[in-house]
Amino acid sequence: MGAFAQLRLLLWKNFLSQIRSPIFTAFEFFVPLILIGASFGLLLGFRYKFETSYDEQIYPAWPVTGGFRDLVQPVSKNVYGTDGTILPLEDFLPGGGPNKCPFLKVIQTSSTSWHLYMSLAYAPVTTSTATIMKYAQAAYSGNHTIDTPLGNITISMTVEVNGNNSEADLVTFLNNQLSDQCNNSYLGGIVFDDDFANNPFNQSISLIKYKIRLTNTERRGDDSD
Ligand SMILES: *[C@@H]1O[C@H](CO)[C@@H](O)[C@H](O)[C@H]1NC(C)=O
Ligand SMILES: *[C@@H]1O[C@H](CO)[C@@H](O)[C@H](O)[C@H]1NC(C)=O
Ligand SMILES: *[C@@H]1O[C@H](CO)[C@@H](O)[C@H](O)[C@H]1NC(C)=O
Ligand SMILES: *[C@@H]1O[C@H](CO)[C@@H](O)[C@H](O)[C@H]1NC(C)=O
Ligand SMILES: *[C@@H]1O[C@H](CO)[C@@H](O)[C@H](O)[C@H]1NC(C)=O
Repeated sequence: MGAFAQLRLLLWKNFLSQIRSPIFTAFEFFVPLILIGASFGLLLGFRYKFETSYDEQIYPAWPVTGGFRDLVQPVSKNVYGTDGTILPLEDFLPGGGPNKCPFLKVIQTSSTSWHLYMSLAYAPVTTSTATIMKYAQAAYSGNHTIDTPLGNITISMTVEVNGNNSEADLVTFLNNQLSDQCNNSYLGGIVFDDDFANNPFNQSISLIKYKIRLTNTERRGDDSD
C-alpha cells in the first residue's frame, strides 16, 4: 500500500470516528470558538477602559515658594475645599479628632495645635547636597499659624533629613520605612545627580539634576484602616 493510500485510510478512519461521536465533535468544534470569541470580546469590551486618550490640557501655574506655604496653599483655584492642598487640612480642624491614617506624622498637642513631622531621605551625601538639604529643612521647620474659617490653628513642624550614599541604599531604606504609610513622617527621597553632587562648582555643569522618589500608592487620601 502506498503512502498516499495509507494517509487516505487514516483520514477516513478519523472522519468516521468524528461522525460516530457527534457530541464530542461538537465540543471539539465549539469550545475553541467560544474561547477565541470570549478573548476577542474582552479585548474589544475593555478597549475604552485602558486605551483612552485625553486632549491636551494646560494646567494653571502653581506658585512654588519652597517652604511651608506650599503644603497649605491650594494647587489650583478650580479645586474647592481642602482637596487642593498637599497637606490634608481636614486632619487639622480645630477641635477635630485624630485622623485614622494621617499623611506624614501628626501628633495633636491641643485642640488647635498640632506637631507635624516630615522626613526626607536624600542621596548621595556630599558637602553640597547636605547643604541644600539643610536649607530645605530650615524652609519648612518652625511654627506656622493658619487662619481657617473655624479659627486659627498652629502647626509646629519638625523636619528631618537623612542621607544615604547611593540611590540603591535610599530605595531599600524607603521601601522598608514606607511599608506602613499611615502616620509616617517620610515623604520621599531626593536623589541628586552624581556629577553635581561631587563637583558642584564645575563650570561645565550648568544644571542641577535630581530625581524625586515617592511611593507609587496614593497616601494623601481618605481615611484608610
Ligand atoms: C502618630 O504616631 C505618634 C507616635 O509616633 C502618636 O503619638 C500619634 O498619636 C499618632 N497620630 C495619630 C493620628 O495616630
Ligand atoms: C514652636 O512653639 C513651641 C511651643 O508651642 C515652642 O516650644 C518652640 O520653641 C517653637 N519653635 C520655634 C522654632 O519657634
Ligand atoms: C488669627 O491669626 C491672625 C494672624 O495670623 C490674627 O490677626 C487673628 O487675630 C487670629 N485670630 C484669632 C481668632 O485668634
Ligand atoms: C540610609 O539612611 C537611613 C537613615 O539615615 C539609615 O537608617 C540607613 O541605615 C541607611 N542605609 C544604608 C544602607 O546606609
Ligand atoms: C567638569 O565636568 C566635565 C563634564 O562632566 C568633566 O569632563 C570635567 O573633567 C569636570 N572638571 C573638573 C575640574 O572636575
